[in-house]
Amino acid sequence: MMKESFETIRMEGDDLILLDQRRLPSSMEYIRAKTVDDVYRAIKDMAVRGAPLIGSTAGYGVYFAAKESRSKEEFLKKCTFLASARPTAVNLMWAVDRMKRTAFEYDFSLEKLLKEADRIKEEDIETNHALSIYGSSLLEKGSTVLTHCNAGALATSGWGTALGVIKQAFLDGRIKHVYADETRPRLQGARLTAFELVDFKIPSTLIPDSVAATLIRDKRIDAIIVGADRIALNGDTANKIGTFSLSVVAKAYGVPMYIAAPISTIDFNTRSGKDIPIEERDKSEVIDPLDNGMLIAPEGMDVYNPSFDVTPHENITAIITEKGIIEEPFEENIRKLKECCCSHT
Ligand code: MRU
Repeated sequence: MMKESFETIRMEGDDLILLDQRRLPSSMEYIRAKTVDDVYRAIKDMAVRGAPLIGSTAGYGVYFAAKESRSKEEFLKKCTFLASARPTAVNLMWAVDRMKRTAFEYDFSLEKLLKEADRIKEEDIETNHALSIYGSSLLEKGSTVLTHCNAGALATSGWGTALGVIKQAFLDGRIKHVYADETRPRLQGARLTAFELVDFKIPSTLIPDSVAATLIRDKRIDAIIVGADRIALNGDTANKIGTFSLSVVAKAYGVPMYIAAPISTIDFNTRSGKDIPIEERDKSEVIDPLDNGMLIAPEGMDVYNPSFDVTPHENITAIITEKGIIEEPFEENIRKLKECCCSHT
């Protein structure tokens, strides 16, 4: 099995080692997290990011919370704090809840909690490979695809979702070329997806976000494949800001729009996209995007910086999961998926 040349997350003794994605692609630096506060910070400040990786990281955060707490109340308070690090990626709440259930089931056994956190991480990688095989089957030989943000190995415990599909399809001989949106304002496409595409030696081109519509109109894109931070029961999907506008253009020009995500990204308790909380981040991300003091707008300027938007299910061709491909009618098919595959949600 092919593997990326880096690891995003691993335990070393009793410390959690996280690849600091804010430094990529210039340097590979790692953070050592030892407490629930360290894990909260790493997620909030986006040293680690991407919905599935946020979930895996939070799993170890709950292990630290159990280690640090002297009472059930203190443990629950720490879990609530951890789950508040970022509001949109539902994998965060999903992982915290799963770990809380393990804590109660096994009377706060640290051994069991560490095993469960390891399991969340391993399942993430297995899941990504499974959904990538389904996703690859949707593409014709010689396809040119477009992706937005980073939904690769860097956004997960390994391999990736949308970029996992692209990598699998490349290995299957179905990918001719990949266009990666740079993804303003934090540039996850330029800094992270481009890094992974080069690492995997996939023929690819980086584009400013505003180029995508022209490529789609000119029939230079066969499919768009992106990840998700939260999928509502009706199929509406929150993903990185800019995904919605891509979906509008894709629909106008008849280009398929695929969402690749694990079932843990489906929030069965959220009816539609209107109910998904959208994170707003600091204005500094927009005016000082490289965080080095080189301002690209005056400090006094007002900034609106939502980190995600919602793509309505009508604009989505299919959702690719580890249990198969979901198409319209989304709500009916998502309910069926819940019945067959999700005992706890
Ligand atoms: O703000 P980020 O970088 O955490 O946002 C990441 C995304 O929007 C990804 O597309 C999404 O989490 C899917 S990752 C497999």
